[in-house]
Amino acid sequence: MKEVKNVEYGLEKIFEGAQDFLPLLGTDYVEFYVGNAKQAAHFYKTAFGFQSFAYKGLETGCRDYASYVLAQDKIRIVLTTPLNSKSPINEHLRKHGDGVKIIALWVEDATKSFEETVKRGAKPFMEPTTEKDEHGEVVRSGIYTYGETVHIFVERKNYKGLFLPGFREWKSDYNPASTGLKFIDHMVGNVGWGEMNQWVNWYEEVMGFVNFLSFDDKQITTEYSALMSKVMSNGNGRIKFPINEPAKGKKKSQIEEYIDFYEGPGVQHMAIATDDIIKTVMELKVRGVEFLSAPPPAYYEEIPKRLGKHMDMMHEDLKVIEKLAILVDADEDGYLLQIFTKPLEDRPTVFFEIIQRMGAKGFGAGNFKALFESIEREQEKRGTL
Ligand code: FE2
Repeated sequence: MKEVKNVEYGLEKIFEGAQDFLPLLGTDYVEFYVGNAKQAAHFYKTAFGFQSFAYKGLETGCRDYASYVLAQDKIRIVLTTPLNSKSPINEHLRKHGDGVKIIALWVEDATKSFEETVKRGAKPFMEPTTEKDEHGEVVRSGIYTYGETVHIFVERKNYKGLFLPGFREWKSDYNPASTGLKFIDHMVGNVGWGEMNQWVNWYEEVMGFVNFLSFDDKQITTEYSALMSKVMSNGNGRIKFPINEPAKGKKKSQIEEYIDFYEGPGVQHMAIATDDIIKTVMELKVRGVEFLSAPPPAYYEEIPKRLGKHMDMMHEDLKVIEKLAILVDADEDGYLLQIFTKPLEDRPTVFFEIIQRMGAKGFGAGNFKALFESIEREQEKRGTL
């Protein structure tokens, strides 16, 4: 995909063919609906090093739900739980369990973003709504994407407050240190059989994205299962949404397992960038985060071959990389290091990826086989392979 300069918005680059009519400035926040937000907040602080940031609930006059906002560098996650049986959030939880409800996108103009996307066929979730407090105003609007997942557009150019009107600062005496997580690299969606291209078209037509990488079931296959994946990017490359679809194999695809347990399409994983994956992973392990099991030793023996010309610039100790079960892949531009957590809850649905890019722009396609074999070992234990 050829890159050209986008002068109008001063953004670093734009993929040719993308229509940046929104345009998207970045991920604003990711909101999870959870069964117990107070306890989930403790988990994400303790295990992943997120910091207490903002809060909304009974104490701030919100009678229907409680939301805890956690931050780490540029990442903001919101954990929301209903406070009574009448909240529509209950229905979402009953069906999907804990999971990502909202991928919020930071825009210049939330009203225009809503109008442009709805005009192009998006199903509305929330009409443009202005919320105010003493720090100014925020305009938000929202549309549905795959399954019951939602994109909220957030316009905050006239707001000086901490997060959103209605939230207050959340101060805590319990503040575990950061684990070096910096920003969201990409968010991956799982969709059902035969639905990938429909959602690829949706991101192209409704959001103005381009499909800049594709993997078919011949590239992403193991002895037992397969999947197909297409990576969608907005014009300036800040937002990347790979979309996975299950493919036929001898046994059940991990995407199918996800769809079965989430009871529909949804966010499979959130990839978070670090600039020192060894330090980050060592710290996460000390704090009890569980990762997928290591690939066989042969995987690490092949790394110099896989990295080729990039091997010289690799300054990480391969022995340490192997000991921590970190995966390594390379493309034309450089290499990347990545590792995947086990699911973050009891249903085998959403998980995190930790990624360090050393020039590489890909998504670890060379690791898919090793990764899937590792997931299959877990599926085997769950009786869902
Ligand atoms: Fe990923």
